[in-house]
Amino acid sequence: MFRSGSTRVGLTAVSNLSRASASVQAQAPRLPLPPVSPQTSFARPSTLISSRSPFSTRFVRTISSTSTRAAAPPDSSDASSSSSSSNSSNLNSSFYFSSNGTHPRRPTAPDWHSMAEQEISKYLCQTHDRVFDCNRAWAAEQTAKDPNFFKHLAEGQNPEYLWIGCSDSRIPAEQITGLQAGDAFVHRNIANLVCNTDLNVMSVITYAVQHLQVKHIVVCGHYGCGGVKAAMTPKDMGLLNPWLRNIRDVYRLHEKELDSIADEDARYNRLVELNVLEQCRNVIKTASVQQSYAENKFPIVHGWVFGFHDGLLKDLKFDHQKVLKDIQKVYNLTG
Ligand code: CO
Repeated sequence: MFRSGSTRVGLTAVSNLSRASASVQAQAPRLPLPPVSPQTSFARPSTLISSRSPFSTRFVRTISSTSTRAAAPPDSSDASSSSSSSNSSNLNSSFYFSSNGTHPRRPTAPDWHSMAEQEISKYLCQTHDRVFDCNRAWAAEQTAKDPNFFKHLAEGQNPEYLWIGCSDSRIPAEQITGLQAGDAFVHRNIANLVCNTDLNVMSVITYAVQHLQVKHIVVCGHYGCGGVKAAMTPKDMGLLNPWLRNIRDVYRLHEKELDSIADEDARYNRLVELNVLEQCRNVIKTASVQQSYAENKFPIVHGWVFGFHDGLLKDLKFDHQKVLKDIQKVYNLTG
């Protein structure tokens, strides 16, 4: 799948996503969305007032509960569980299987501050072992469908796509697009940023373009991005400051447009989109992308945004050719 030309990719992805979204919803942990409230949402950086962590309520609770044992329990993430407030009884029955009996499901998150150390250790063992149980189930499933699956996989990779997405646990690239192993070379970081001083992402782009010769580079953000929200919160985030500063720069670049949006949620969503588009521009600024495109007419850069409310991807219709032409007035590296 996804072997079509660039103009069909967005539609194909949405089509595949429609089929995949039901299973994603069934499997994905139900983490709370980063809160968008008048206190924590952004207007402009200088006008923000917040005393809460901008990432998410879950983040705050987890840190608090492990350090003081006085905070509320983590959210229950499984609709099948009866309650998040029980502890040892949940542990005894939490490691159960999905309805078809093949995939171990996530144990119910217990109430940390009422648990004995032994119970916490048991829970950690279960959540660790679950990954290996899932891996065995997945490997068996692939072999059942195609006995030569792993033989082919071991022969090498020839992905069509480089996916640059957010590290957010709710947006697994392959699952939301229906892509299979071998289809996409994947890089993820907080808020899907492409910084020219980040050796990691620059190496990934160079390798994907020069050696794998990917045909598409997708920058995929998502509405409700905690990284974007954190960047727009007037708070010292320590080591995260320089990373998140890139998003504040995106706001400054589009300050006029963003400030004209009265609704805070709408302004937040637009910043998510503008951040994706700026990262697409950053991809095009690289020598490997410019030189490959001049020689081969690929890769093409795309900007997409994932929405939690419907599980669909939105194609921002990033105009690769126009942006490349504009950018090369200043950033031309093809000489
Ligand atoms: Co994010």
